[in-house]
Amino acid sequence: MHFQGSHILNIGQFERSDVDQLFAVADAMRPYAHRDKVTRVLDGAILGSMFFEASTRTRISFGSAFNLLGGQVRETTGFESTAIAKGESLYDTARVLSGYSDVIVMRHPAEGSVAEFAAGSRVPVINGGDGANEHPTQALLDLFTIRSELHSRKREIDDLRIAMVGDLRYGRTVHSLSRLLSLYKNVEIRLVSPTELRMPGDIVEALRSSGHKVIETEVLEEGIAGVDIVYSTRLQEERFASPADADLYRGRFRLNQSVYTANCEPNTVIMHPLPRDSREGARELDDDLNDNPNLAIFRQSDNGVLVRMALFAIILDVVDQVSAHASKVNWYTERRF
Ligand code: NCD
Repeated sequence: MHFQGSHILNIGQFERSDVDQLFAVADAMRPYAHRDKVTRVLDGAILGSMFFEASTRTRISFGSAFNLLGGQVRETTGFESTAIAKGESLYDTARVLSGYSDVIVMRHPAEGSVAEFAAGSRVPVINGGDGANEHPTQALLDLFTIRSELHSRKREIDDLRIAMVGDLRYGRTVHSLSRLLSLYKNVEIRLVSPTELRMPGDIVEALRSSGHKVIETEVLEEGIAGVDIVYSTRLQEERFASPADADLYRGRFRLNQSVYTANCEPNTVIMHPLPRDSREGARELDDDLNDNPNLAIFRQSDNGVLVRMALFAIILDVVDQVSAHASKVNWYTERRF
């Protein structure tokens, strides 16, 4: 594998064979993520974690993944608690933090900022989301989830039919996932969004030139009929000039059990990178779907730990040593997956 010591900044770095290898390592991480065994393979290693935008699952799952491999996490959140608030550059911050860490994960509201930071870092940097640009590890865990949901339906990623719904302009997860799907064959992608929030043209172009069928529509029912996966997304209100601008689109597409029953095939998988906006005016993915067995959103968030453990093991070159540092678990671990 050729990612030892590499930054992970965007999906363009990956080929299909890299994804296959990553997923094989992620599968092998299951006993550790499920607390059937512990490993101390990263004993002594430090993850530097800098999140300059709100995050629950990305930040905590990166940290948990590193802990589950035996490493420690040092983290900071928000600009106001770092010297960036005193005018320090990303370059200087990277030089300094990389002296304290073996690998760094960073999220930042500006596009290209994580790459700029990486240029000053002496250790590998992973992009945990840079503005509306990319969120590569989310796309990898999304595809890992798609693959496992399809396998239980005796299907492969090739020939997938997927609908992406919502704010496709500012949603970095759908940007990275679309780029990742370009590596596969014969995918049909329905892009459901308001005209103003369409998927950027270069990404649509890249999908078409990989031979995929792309259909753009503003009608939810049309987009979700006959697909294997519906991937719903949140309105990225933090990227709009004002809340009033975002309000124009809030609640535009709402998937709930009755819309699902009326339009989707019975086994259609429902995904969302989360957080879903459960406030009254939004509800793009209704709570009344919680008991639908095709709702994969929490399998998706669980899979984030596996994929991030795999990335750490690959980047820090310990894949073959994980089991040599394993031992039994001492505490009560029963949990339902
Ligand atoms: C996404 C993000 O931050 O881009 N969240 C996540 O990391 N799972 C999606 C979102 O915030 O809407």
